[in-house]
Amino acid sequence: MGNVHIIDHPLIQHKLSIMRNKHTGSKDFRALLSEITLLMGYELTRDLPLEDMVIETPIAEMNAKRISGKKLAIIPILRAGLGMVDGLLTLIPVAKVGHIGLYRDPDSHQPVPYYCKLPSDIDDRIVIVCDPMLATGGSACDAIAMLKERGCRHIRMLNLVGAPEGVERVRKEHPDVDIYIAALDERLNEHAYIVPGLGDAGYSIFVTK
Ligand code: URA
Repeated sequence: MGNVHIIDHPLIQHKLSIMRNKHTGSKDFRALLSEITLLMGYELTRDLPLEDMVIETPIAEMNAKRISGKKLAIIPILRAGLGMVDGLLTLIPVAKVGHIGLYRDPDSHQPVPYYCKLPSDIDDRIVIVCDPMLATGGSACDAIAMLKERGCRHIRMLNLVGAPEGVERVRKEHPDVDIYIAALDERLNEHAYIVPGLGDAGYSIFVTK
């Protein structure tokens, strides 16, 4: 089973509480999502490998470190995942960004991608799939499956708030994928919203129904 990393740093909890408050406006919501994503990205990248390199400081030659190994790709699930891109890019400016948009066909219940644009070398990258809300886990699992079909083998999931149902589904269907999440909430309601959650993240970011 993939690991679930709950990133509950005090700064993250504090900022998340403001995001959850129904009186918080979209300007603050967006800024906080970006700040939290950056803080979470710090933990998500903690185990990246390093290699030695020789540099010259103004004083002496030294063995310094740099990140080695696979390059990263950031893949937001449309549309709320877009709110997490700039925080990650601030940390990892050289990461490539792809996009996945999908919906479930109401009759066949099969995932239908309506947008998918990925870096051509995606199979050779560490992929960070991001979506603020991990509710049923349906979109997350479908997006991960699409990435695996394209050869991706190193996938990490980054979410803000999750429901136990969604976390369990991703762990079951994609046991090789680690989940990084700021808060694991109580449950889903009958409309598949996370309780207590923070409402419709896409609406809070874009203010469009
Ligand atoms: N998507 C959201 O934006 N909010 C939820 O609570 C669940 C899914």
